[in-house]
Amino acid sequence: MSKQEELWDENHSRRHSRLMKMGSRVIYASFAKKIVRCAASLDKEMTIVDLGTGPGLLSIHLGRLLPQARIIGVDLSSGMLQIARENADEAGVSNFETRLGRAEAMPIESNSTDLVVTQSSLHEWGDPREGLAEVFRILKPGGRLMLKDYNRAWLSGWKRRLLGIFHHLGMFKFTFEEVAGLLREVGFDEIEGEGRGLALFVRAVKPVP
Ligand SMILES: C[S@@+](CC[C@H](N)C(=O)[O-])C[C@H]1O[C@@H](n2cnc3c(N)ncnc32)[C@H](O)[C@@H]1O
Repeated sequence: MSKQEELWDENHSRRHSRLMKMGSRVIYASFAKKIVRCAASLDKEMTIVDLGTGPGLLSIHLGRLLPQARIIGVDLSSGMLQIARENADEAGVSNFETRLGRAEAMPIESNSTDLVVTQSSLHEWGDPREGLAEVFRILKPGGRLMLKDYNRAWLSGWKRRLLGIFHHLGMFKFTFEEVAGLLREVGFDEIEGEGRGLALFVRAVKPVP
């Protein structure tokens, strides 16, 4: 069992789900709206993979905003996926399914996905470069990635000292430039985004040959 599988056992997963549901509107709704704007030019019946879906709350927002889309939540924690299923059923969202798997070896067919979204998960992947190469593999040509994580560039000086008292800081793993560099290495194009505040947003496109 990997370190992340051990970390996200059922108890920890349920605590995360309860906490995140309290702040769901703030934490997920704005990213979901950005995703919907980015998806506007894609087929309405698109396939979306939510990588590291956790309790499925981003997928639930997307499921409501894009009722014709098929949304697949992938996560390495079976406990999380069970909770994601319960949350989707409770919310009455039926266009969401789950698959157990790692970012670095996704149980998803090549060239099958219109959009990959991932929030607060990249910093946990055992091999981020391999995970992003997998994202590239499963996307259709012209398909897109929308990624959100924590911005290490924000964490300087007093913020590092203050936050370090309350929390381990492993989530602040990447800067925008580092993620953009990895995406370029695995073949992505049109890499855009920002990493100025606490959060890091990156959009990228798999080129059409
Ligand atoms: C901090 S939680 C975020 C969950 C969700 N995206 C959210 O924003 O609420 C990180 C999630 O990433 C998953 N995860 C960590 N490493 C992973 C990997 N290599 N492949 C797939 N999922 C992974 C964990 O199991 C966990 O559910």
